Amino acid sequence: MPAPPECVRFDRTRWVPYPPNVTDFFRFQGTASYLTNDALEAAVNAALALERPLLIRGEPGTGKTLLAEAIAESLGTELIHWPVKSTTRAQDGLYVYDTVQRLYDSRFGEGDVKDIRHYIRLGPLGRAFSSQKRIVLLIDEVDKADLEFPNDLLHELDRMRFVIAETGDEVVAAKRPVVVVTSNNEKELPDAFLRRCVFHFIDFPDQELMKRIVKVHHPNIDRALVDQAVVTFYRLRELPRLRKRPSTSELIDWISVLRRANVGTERFIKELPFLGVLLKKEQDIDALVAAKKSGGFRN
Ligand SMILES: Nc1ncnc2c1ncn2[C@@H]1O[C@H](COP(=O)(O)OP(=O)(O)O)[C@@H](O)[C@H]1O
Ligand SMILES: [Mg+2]
Repeated sequence: MPAPPECVRFDRTRWVPYPPNVTDFFRFQGTASYLTNDALEAAVNAALALERPLLIRGEPGTGKTLLAEAIAESLGTELIHWPVKSTTRAQDGLYVYDTVQRLYDSRFGEGDVKDIRHYIRLGPLGRAFSSQKRIVLLIDEVDKADLEFPNDLLHELDRMRFVIAETGDEVVAAKRPVVVVTSNNEKELPDAFLRRCVFHFIDFPDQELMKRIVKVHHPNIDRALVDQAVVTFYRLRELPRLRKRPSTSELIDWISVLRRANVGTERFIKELPFLGVLLKKEQDIDALVAAKKSGGFRN
């Protein structure tokens, strides 16, 4: 029996051979629940073809984290999520040596304290490298950590291998993971890091795309209510002096609560209920009240 073609395309529902005569250029096209556009697809596909990290920037709620999930889903593979915090160090991604556990075990006579390997815990990067299949590694919100963090990762991301100093073991990526790095743009990233990535900036969706995103999350909802909520959401985002503009995920939450509370279009226009789901600062509520008074905002 002939071997199945290695070269496949995902057509949103299944894998199909594609095209039989051309290379293994993977065509990411989003998923049933993740909407993309040509520019985003091109960036993903270029990063996959070049086996370079994909750096995604954009304001919060523009679907950066979800994109990594969608890529993993399309590739039919696992996602390892590494959420970066202000205290995260590159070393945490490789491995940590659990000295506390070893000390505990030696004190209470448990475990095999002689073998340090029992106390080496691989971090997200270490686990991604040790996986036998190609997986997706999401380094999420890289700009949360200090500037050294991305620089410190360069070496390992380039070479796809590292040595565990305590044991001398080398962890080598059997299959180069697909690396997705996201940034909310809080800090500039070092040039050396940028040079190695394929970059894409996710624009905040326009109203038409936003309605389609909402539809993915709320397929059976009254269209008139969605249209009104989306228009109001964009008007709120444009309020002058807004401290924190509401994001896509907040809009989706707002529509969920409107729906659950059975708010019809009439009540929506009259009351504009549950605004606390969208506006999270007193100053922003004040800005809305002021805009209403001056006629700069209508429900
Ligand atoms: N392109 C998209 N397709 C479908 N849903 C989206 C898309 N972009 C954003 N969303 C919605 O917005 C929410 C926030 O996305 P998320 O990936 O957490 O944003 P970010 O990581 O950029 O802050 C998601 O849970 C999803 O509901
Ligand atoms: Mg995110």
